[in-house]
Amino acid sequence: MTDTGEDETMKHVCRSCGYQSPKWLGRCPECGEWNTMTEEQELSHKKRSRAGSLQDPKPIDQITLAPEMRLTTGIKEFDRTLGGGLVPGSLTLIGGDPGIGKSTLVMQVLDRLSIKGVRSIYLSGEESAQQIRLRADRLGASSPLLHVMTGTCVEEIMDKVRPFKPGLLAVDSIQTMFTEDISSAPGSVGQVRESASRFMAYAKQTGVPVFLVGHVTKDGAIAGPKLLEHLVDTVLYFEGDTAHIFRILRAVKNRYGSTNEIGVFEMKDAGLEEVGNPSRVLLGERPEGASGSVVTPCLEGTRPLLLEIQALVGSSAIGIPRRTAVGVDHNRISLLVAVLGKRLEMQLGDQDIFVNVAGGLRVDEPAADLAIVSAMISSFLNRPIERDAVIFGEVGLTGEIRGVSQPDLRVREAKKLGFNRCIMPKSNAEGRSDFVKGIKIEGAASLQELFRALF
Ligand code: TYD
Ligand code: MG
Repeated sequence: MTDTGEDETMKHVCRSCGYQSPKWLGRCPECGEWNTMTEEQELSHKKRSRAGSLQDPKPIDQITLAPEMRLTTGIKEFDRTLGGGLVPGSLTLIGGDPGIGKSTLVMQVLDRLSIKGVRSIYLSGEESAQQIRLRADRLGASSPLLHVMTGTCVEEIMDKVRPFKPGLLAVDSIQTMFTEDISSAPGSVGQVRESASRFMAYAKQTGVPVFLVGHVTKDGAIAGPKLLEHLVDTVLYFEGDTAHIFRILRAVKNRYGSTNEIGVFEMKDAGLEEVGNPSRVLLGERPEGASGSVVTPCLEGTRPLLLEIQALVGSSAIGIPRRTAVGVDHNRISLLVAVLGKRLEMQLGDQDIFVNVAGGLRVDEPAADLAIVSAMISSFLNRPIERDAVIFGEVGLTGEIRGVSQPDLRVREAKKLGFNRCIMPKSNAEGRSDFVKGIKIEGAASLQELFRALF
């Protein structure tokens, strides 16, 4: 910041990541997005509000540790993602695509907290009180402890919220809020950041946990939640495919817990329902004796999840073979097809190939390679893979099968769901043929060995 002290300075700010530059740039050097730099007026330092009274520096051993008081919501998947409940005075950002279910989730959390006697405020800048009531009715959330407020001016809101002394405040969405101290429009980088810092100051001063809902915006017309990530304590992203019922709540930043946690939900008619055992639900519709279907244990953070990978390989009706990948990386499929051609002499170059992860989930782990390869081989040869087997491992360019992390967790999840055979990288299996009782471990070091194990 070069212009400290001046009152009205203009600067260029990236709508996507908040990068600042004194001059306009076509491409943001920070996040690489094009055309996202917009002119914004900088709030002069004199006008900036102070968060609270400043204390003297203190030796670290004299800082008293208060016993951790976490507020559990009773929604297990949500509490787990937070690292074991809500911390007093924490600011939590809940980001996600429009329509994914953020408002629904927040409303349900407030409703569950009201059972514990928590008086909460659901503050909306997007919907009318009637619309909110309609959603609440649908969710069966009708506790008199749950209060609804609509408004967008942070100063006005704070005037009402402070004397009310809620046990929790939820702001839906931060992009609709504005503070009078800045002249730029609601949704602009400056407004979103400044409004968020007001809610932050409120949370820290009063110890009231605050939720901020933030829309992920693709067109970049309004500032996205990315630029708030460094400000807030916890960032949760609500993901999923609106065409499917599964929703995953993922912690991408957590000052009070691990970022490896996920919560799994299903969107039903009466709101979100927790999915305690996602593997079972995901495998529920698995076809019987069909070729091209393989189950693989993936890790979502620390949580193992059994996914069904499906492949359909068939000769192309038109000259140009098609490649479609849903839930897996397209380039990864091309790479695996090339490796199969070279190392197993299985030429799929002229075949149409479709690969899909059942249930609308996404796998980014290379540990799924071996299952993808197996599904493609199975479909190509039209030979089903044994139903009770799971497969995992990374495939290298020379056709070698490389070890992956946490084989034990993966095998245990497979065992739990009744699988009795596991094909995995030799380096993971070495000397541990019985590390989980009741499931047969088979190590494979190359694609040839995989092929022998499969058929
Ligand atoms: P919403 O929470 O409004 O999404 P966001 O706040 O992230 O924009 O919910 C979006 C969708 O969820 C909406 O299209 C309808 C669906 N939905 C259900 O299927 N069941 C329900 O009980 C509710 C409230 C919503
Ligand atoms: Mg909403």
